[in-house]
Amino acid sequence: MTSTANRLTIRRPDDWHVHLRDGAVLAGVLPYTARQFARAIVMPNLSPPVTTVAAGAAYRERIMAALPAGMDFTPLMVAYLTDGTDPEEMARGKETGVFTGAKLYPAHATTGSAHGVTDVANIRKVLERMEQVGLPLLVHGEVTDAHVDIFDREAVFIDRVLAPLVRDLPGLRVVFEHITTAEAAQFVAESGPNVAATITPQHLHINRNAIFAGGIRPHMYCLPIAKREHHRLALRKAATSGSPKFFLGTDTAPHAVGAKEAACGCAGIFNAPYALESYAAVFEEEGALDKFEGFASLHGPAFYGLPVNEGTVTLEKAPCAVPEVIDANGTPIVPFHAGEELGWRFLG
Ligand code: NCD
Ligand code: ZN
Repeated sequence: MTSTANRLTIRRPDDWHVHLRDGAVLAGVLPYTARQFARAIVMPNLSPPVTTVAAGAAYRERIMAALPAGMDFTPLMVAYLTDGTDPEEMARGKETGVFTGAKLYPAHATTGSAHGVTDVANIRKVLERMEQVGLPLLVHGEVTDAHVDIFDREAVFIDRVLAPLVRDLPGLRVVFEHITTAEAAQFVAESGPNVAATITPQHLHINRNAIFAGGIRPHMYCLPIAKREHHRLALRKAATSGSPKFFLGTDTAPHAVGAKEAACGCAGIFNAPYALESYAAVFEEEGALDKFEGFASLHGPAFYGLPVNEGTVTLEKAPCAVPEVIDANGTPIVPFHAGEELGWRFLG
């Protein structure tokens, strides 16, 4: 890392959690991720979900076909676990290099999770096989029990599901995705080296008040939902701590404006266009710009056992105006920080 008064240069980063969608929207959103990141872990919650090696390979081809000429980007594919997943399919996904991880969506926890796992006991054999072959488990960590308050679903998931799973399968590498609570940050920090977490820009910037500031704000709604201020502060501390257990994963989740601004609006925040600028603001505010490269470019590859990227990217300390809406190949999408001015500008 090199930094002068107004420039910050870091090794080229990766995004360890993105939703690239498919079809026309894929072509519209992919360049934003590919511009800033060398690689990205691509979520499999398409319709239908990416449950097989063949589907993962086909989706990877569609992503590469949608990549504008001259852009250097590698999608890292993820399998979507269901109650019926065949352990051997996951072993094949690892062997063939198609899958970099497999994702546990508790059924009905979030967008595109209807085919998810209804009880982790149902995928016990799959998890054991993943532990054996070294395929990491990526976890959406929320219980789906309607009796549990939406703001408590992550903390309850740790107690009911994640802590027992990590205890029973100590050799399984687990990424606790998009953590949103002090409890999650503490759980990860206190777990062994096989447990890590990604943190999104929105959970470092906003608390739950942002969803209701002067009226309902659908563009601040994502899952897991933003929590109280003390959780945001705990996440800031974890992200900027320098601990290799925490790394960058935007959870950029584009939805058309109309699908967000609706009587039953979709969960998901489209943060890809200004992701690095958004994270840099947090690290600067925390007086931790020296920890930014580790979070963005080093801790993720180390956890996944992948080489770090060649090359660098540079951010300049200069005003960066975020538009109100972005046209993603014909689909209007409101980006995170819409209408705001950020203090860092991505130079490439
Ligand atoms: C994601 C989506 O839209 O696919 N939404 C979100 O709020 N993060 C699903 C997910 O990752 O939970
Ligand atoms: Zn996600």
